[in-house]
Amino acid sequence: MMVNLLSSRQRQALRLSWRFIRPYRVQAACALLALVLTAGVTLSMGQGIKLVVDEGFMTQSPELLNRSILIFLLLVLALAVGTFTRFYLVSWIGERCVADIRRQVFEHLIELHPGFYENNRASEIQSRLTADTTLLQSVIGSSLSLFLRNSLMVIGGIVLLFVTNPKLTSIVAVALPLVLVPILVFGRRVRSLSRQSQDRIADVGSYVAETLGQIKTVQAYNHQRTDRVRFADTVEAAFSTARQRIVQRAWLVTLVILLVLGAVGVMLWVGGMDVIAGRISAGELAAFVFYSLIVGSAFGTLSEVIGELQRAAGAAQRIGELLQARSDILPPEYGLRTLPARVSGAMAFEAVSFAYPSRPDQWAIEGLSLTVEPGETLALVGPSGAGKSTLFDLLLRFYDPQQGRILIDGQPLTVLDPHDLRRHFALVAQTPALFYGTVQENIRYGRDDVSRGQVEAAARIAHAHDFIVQLPQGYDTPLGEAGLGLSGGQRQRLAIARALLVDAPILLLDEATSALDAQSEHLIQQALPTLMAGRTTLVIAHRLATVQNADRIAVIEAGKLVAVGTHQQLLAQSPLYARLAALQFNAPATLARSG
Ligand SMILES: Nc1ncnc2c1ncn2[C@@H]1O[C@H](COP(=O)(O)OP(=O)(O)O)[C@@H](O)[C@H]1O
Ligand SMILES: [Mg+2]
Repeated sequence: MMVNLLSSRQRQALRLSWRFIRPYRVQAACALLALVLTAGVTLSMGQGIKLVVDEGFMTQSPELLNRSILIFLLLVLALAVGTFTRFYLVSWIGERCVADIRRQVFEHLIELHPGFYENNRASEIQSRLTADTTLLQSVIGSSLSLFLRNSLMVIGGIVLLFVTNPKLTSIVAVALPLVLVPILVFGRRVRSLSRQSQDRIADVGSYVAETLGQIKTVQAYNHQRTDRVRFADTVEAAFSTARQRIVQRAWLVTLVILLVLGAVGVMLWVGGMDVIAGRISAGELAAFVFYSLIVGSAFGTLSEVIGELQRAAGAAQRIGELLQARSDILPPEYGLRTLPARVSGAMAFEAVSFAYPSRPDQWAIEGLSLTVEPGETLALVGPSGAGKSTLFDLLLRFYDPQQGRILIDGQPLTVLDPHDLRRHFALVAQTPALFYGTVQENIRYGRDDVSRGQVEAAARIAHAHDFIVQLPQGYDTPLGEAGLGLSGGQRQRLAIARALLVDAPILLLDEATSALDAQSEHLIQQALPTLMAGRTTLVIAHRLATVQNADRIAVIEAGKLVAVGTHQQLLAQSPLYARLAALQFNAPATLARSG
């Protein structure tokens, strides 16, 4: 019955919360016990007040007062201990669960296929990881407990109100909606405005991040004046939302004081008349006022908490969706094969056609067949956008082709565990990815079991050592985000050192010339032969030197393999290659042909 009252979204949120709370069910049970205990003690306080008033003050007997106060203090002590336990345990569970959720979500995300991030913006996922989990934390770590506690208070309080005085209770029952409805209305407005306020503040934050992140462009174009105006608008929008919230909040506080204390006044008057007439005792009246305050404030809290629980249900649903996203790139369910410790490096594309998931009706690779011999250096050349980098993506199995298959050492990629497959590749990407951390950490990115000496040796081979020792802290110089503070050529040489260090049998090299000056290019060119030695190498080539050092060259155009052969053969046979050679490699076709 209860379950049917909840929407599927709320049920899903509950299931997710339970999944993360379950490991801590002992703590949760203790918290629940403390919660019931404190609620019980709070409610019995009313009886304590009644005792103190009736037996202590009214009978004018010091012994009875002593006894009543003693009981009252014992209740206070129990309440204090119970509250400590409840607050500590509930908050602990909240923080603990959110830490677990963040870790699980991240561990899940980092294994998802790259295509997933083309449909789901990384920034949106990041906000789910931070904002949504924070919301869940506030729910598990407080709102849920507030909800339970105040529900107990409302139920227990109403029962005790009736027990204490049915006549007064019926007056309260009529008056309660009159007091609560306006409070609820203003409370809702305040809540929705606080949410808007938070959004506006987020706008302010992202504007600052974007502008300061591109500060050089901002200043180079003298864009500060426009930015000042736009930022002022953003800030003023945040202010005006905040002002509206404050107005509503001020009304709310005023209403609460007026209505609640007014209602208490009316109750005191009606009850006071009864006390004077001797129909009820003064203690009863005091207890009654106490219980109605408890019920009133518990109602107020419940109304606030329910809104928060609903928002948390949304957050839990979004996190649940992230956790349910399945990777498209998985090891096979059965028939798993493993590669030898070191593969020979033989690779084959067999009639491979592939379209990116975001552009399903346009082949990025079309009917491509190509074999690579063990130990061979194969250069891939072709115009920009031809599909060269895509071939690397397919080899590393970031995507699966829609048609045909790819083999490594005779095994189709799809029968392998992706981790086992990628172990055999060292990739130097077109835009080398550097991470927040020191130079040394960036070089040993693929291998953390190597010594400082080995790192230096790799850096020397990659012609990176000389510039590294010139950095302020040498190998321990921290790099900014994405290797900020290094030139393109320096980044690429770090990436080469990184690839050298993993010592994989197959090297995938996406040569980038655009970022390089002649000097860096020369240094990189010198580093390459050592890098390629004893390895099977696929190199996307933009330089004549690389092309001439390759055993064979494959010409790719519009996703298709146009020609394969040596430099000389291709100059003679492939007009596209001759054109590329003349334009891109700066090699006059006639000169190359003659020599
Ligand atoms: N992630 C992607 N999603 C959709 N299309 C892509 C993606 N990456 C590349 N492409 C497209 O695939 C084609 C081949 O790209 P790419 O392999 O990067 O070319 P190359 O490396 O030869 O310059 C291009 O038309 C490019 O726009
Ligand atoms: Mg490319």
